[in-house]
Amino acid sequence: MKFFVDTADVSEIRALGELGLVDGVTTNPSIIAKSGRRMAEVIAEICAITEGPVSAEVTATDTTGMLAEGRYLRGIARNVAVKVPLTEAGLRACRVLSAEGTPVNVTLCFSAAQALLAAKAGAAFISPFVGRLDDIATDGMGLIADIVQIYRNYPTLNTEVLVASVRHPIHLMQAAKLGAHVATLPPGVIRQMFKHPLTDSGLSAFLADWAKTGQSIL
Ligand code: E4P
Repeated sequence: MKFFVDTADVSEIRALGELGLVDGVTTNPSIIAKSGRRMAEVIAEICAITEGPVSAEVTATDTTGMLAEGRYLRGIARNVAVKVPLTEAGLRACRVLSAEGTPVNVTLCFSAAQALLAAKAGAAFISPFVGRLDDIATDGMGLIADIVQIYRNYPTLNTEVLVASVRHPIHLMQAAKLGAHVATLPPGVIRQMFKHPLTDSGLSAFLADWAKTGQSIL
């Protein structure tokens, strides 16, 4: 399973990259706004330190505008993936950009029917938002199960399921069990994955016993 990091925080991307945990990066307009930086500048910097795809999202809502913005964003670096919303205009833009060889991440997906449309439009990635579905008392992970099953039924569809709006490690474990190709993770969720109280208490006990021996390894 590939891990993308859902942030525009360059220091976090660098630190997680050193751990081999960054197969790509996703951003959206809210994430760019939070960074307080110019979009083109921060996307260029992220692309320079990331091998995998870096999603940069258009903000136009018409196809012509999305194509202009998408081509501009793709021009920033060879590993930019253009992110478009799951609207009719977005899927029209997806078809054109994909045909030009640009990987497209179709975002704001909340149904399996939408995911099928995105795959037919040639999307490289579909981003179903599990956390936001859970927030409205709908089974976000059920959507991932449906999309994974549907895509598996049609091996000619080349779209990868990119689990988005991940809120905690349980989301990630469930998505991995379902065989989702990618999850995009806020850095805080990755850090939660390191933690287990039995690891902490076990390590404390080992170190206390070791101290009693008076030894040192080196
Ligand atoms: C990623 O591509 C999405 O933009 C992101 O995961 C949305 O997460 P949120 O629902 O926590 O804002």
